[in-house]
Amino acid sequence: MKIERYEKWFLVVTLVVLVGCMVAVVLSVTQHNVALPTPAGRIDPQAVTTTAPFTEPGLRPLGDNRYELVLIGRAWAWDGAYVTVPKGAEVTIIATSVDVIHGMRIPDTNVNVMVIPGQISQVDVTFDDTGTYTLLCHEYCGIGHQQMGATITVE
Ligand code: CUA
Repeated sequence: MKIERYEKWFLVVTLVVLVGCMVAVVLSVTQHNVALPTPAGRIDPQAVTTTAPFTEPGLRPLGDNRYELVLIGRAWAWDGAYVTVPKGAEVTIIATSVDVIHGMRIPDTNVNVMVIPGQISQVDVTFDDTGTYTLLCHEYCGIGHQQMGATITVE
């Protein structure tokens, strides 16, 4: 079977790109800890408010400037939000939803997770700079979506 010269080159370029992408994926996973977001746990969305730690949403000190912030997303507010932490605080945010899919984003930080009924989302964040951080919902969740914000004050 005769293959045209340009066709051969096209096959070579295609193989090089394909193998290069596969190597990039393998290196991302093995060398740079890139992973798909996974839920930190499962929860019955009907029983969120009676299941620990969601029985007491809000900020809990863990010692040595470490905190746990438990949030419940609901249309259209965050239970447990509006908190103040000291500069340099390391905060583990644990969140879930009681109704529809919400999203949690805190601009200027690494916090950008989905908050899904039935799943527990968890993310660690360190607040190195003082100021007021906005915690907002970035997944359209109904007519009051744009009101679904809160603040974390770092002082
Ligand atoms: Cu909750 Cu948008």
